[in-house]
Amino acid sequence: QRVVVFISGGGSNMMSLLNATTDPSYPAEIVAVFSDKADAGGLAKAADRGIATFAFLRKDYDSKEAHEAAILAELERQAPDIICLAGYMRLLSGAFIGRYEGRILNIHPSLLPLFPGLHTHQRALDAGMRIAGCTVHYVTEGMDEGPIIAQAAVPVLPGDTADSLAARVLTVEHSTYPLALKLVAEGRVKMEDGRAVIEDPV
Ligand code: GRF
Repeated sequence: QRVVVFISGGGSNMMSLLNATTDPSYPAEIVAVFSDKADAGGLAKAADRGIATFAFLRKDYDSKEAHEAAILAELERQAPDIICLAGYMRLLSGAFIGRYEGRILNIHPSLLPLFPGLHTHQRALDAGMRIAGCTVHYVTEGMDEGPIIAQAAVPVLPGDTADSLAARVLTVEHSTYPLALKLVAEGRVKMEDGRAVIEDPV
């Protein structure tokens, strides 16, 4: 299965996916990395590994539609089976999502449906949570609300700050995303009438 990864920053999740695909039995390959930031650290990391990289800067286009049209045109050329958003900090339009319905994944640093949106770790601490974690879900038009594919939880420890909790969650993000992508690439989970259905329990 051909995968295009979208990033906006350091790309640690993109790297964990890339590392997973080095296993010849892994059912997906990353064919390109797209970013909306020319200076995204993940672009250099991907290029160093010989992966094609593309930056689409919003300021280079006079509308969101034109920006997305440029991205969609390159996606046509890359012909991905699956798109993985990994630290991509821009909302995709319904039209864009509709083109890849059920084939766009995202990783969010909270146990959805708790704490959609930003500053998830501080909000978990403020709420007195005793666990936190990450969610890989299908992307739908609403932000951070698509059917859940995989989740992982970590403890919230005494003295935790947003940064220490973020670091602990990030470690499980790096194992959860490759697992979730594997399930989708193998067709063992599918999006069916708005839910992620596990076809063949692991
Ligand atoms: C991670 O917390 C991820 O959950 C969120 O963006 C953060 C940075 O991701 N989507 P990365 O290091 O750029 O992969």
